[in-house]
Amino acid sequence: MNYHILTLFPEMVLNGLHTSIIGRAAEKGLLSIEAIDIREYSTDKHRHVDDYPYGGGAGMVMQPMPICDAYEDLCGKIGKNPRVIYMTPQGKVFNQKIAQELAKEEDLVFLCGHYEGIDERALELIATDYLSIGDYVLTGGELPAMVMIDSISRLIPGVLNNDTSAEFESFQDNLLEYPQYTRPEEYKGLKVPEVLLSGHHKNIDAWRREQSIQRTLERRPDLLEEAILSKKEAEYLKK
Ligand code: ADE
Repeated sequence: MNYHILTLFPEMVLNGLHTSIIGRAAEKGLLSIEAIDIREYSTDKHRHVDDYPYGGGAGMVMQPMPICDAYEDLCGKIGKNPRVIYMTPQGKVFNQKIAQELAKEEDLVFLCGHYEGIDERALELIATDYLSIGDYVLTGGELPAMVMIDSISRLIPGVLNNDTSAEFESFQDNLLEYPQYTRPEEYKGLKVPEVLLSGHHKNIDAWRREQSIQRTLERRPDLLEEAILSKKEAEYLKK
């Protein structure tokens, strides 16, 4: 996976992503992260990339030319036109399913806006996807891009130490993950559930499944509408 981030703050995304697991994955060659400075494509002598909105109103709008030129330059360099994801609170809310779909791409462009937004024509010309990380407004698209890159990257084979650890986790089958325990067996009077100490794998799997469903019912009942459940489980939930 090659990520290309169109941004006015290249250091922000590079510093944020070149640490920990994602940084190690980049060192191992499992992915690459390139920050493209939109300002480098300004033809203005003061390197301006924004201007006043036509029709008036507060704030500044990012001009279309530097953004489109940066994208076209990238396409020429890599010899293809990758998907361009525009970070916006007006987009579809990002989730695990979208992360899985995007993880299949070879190249992804993340377009990060600032100020009052981006001239609509740039979006019309290059944006293929509009994604949000939730119903709140941030000052720019860099943090949302970093959030998405983190969650997509951990789905790429080899990025997590244990290949199976992304398989059984929250949102698998649209259910939340079961509770986890490690040593000691008792802490401040709280004991690890007996079944987990039994070594009986069938019972452990059944307990974990039940906990997942129970937890989803309590914390995120909205997820259950699309959860993949057995007939018996679905009947139990109807009661
Ligand atoms: N830019 C500003 N707020 C955002 C959000 N919630 N999601 C994605 N991009 C944004």
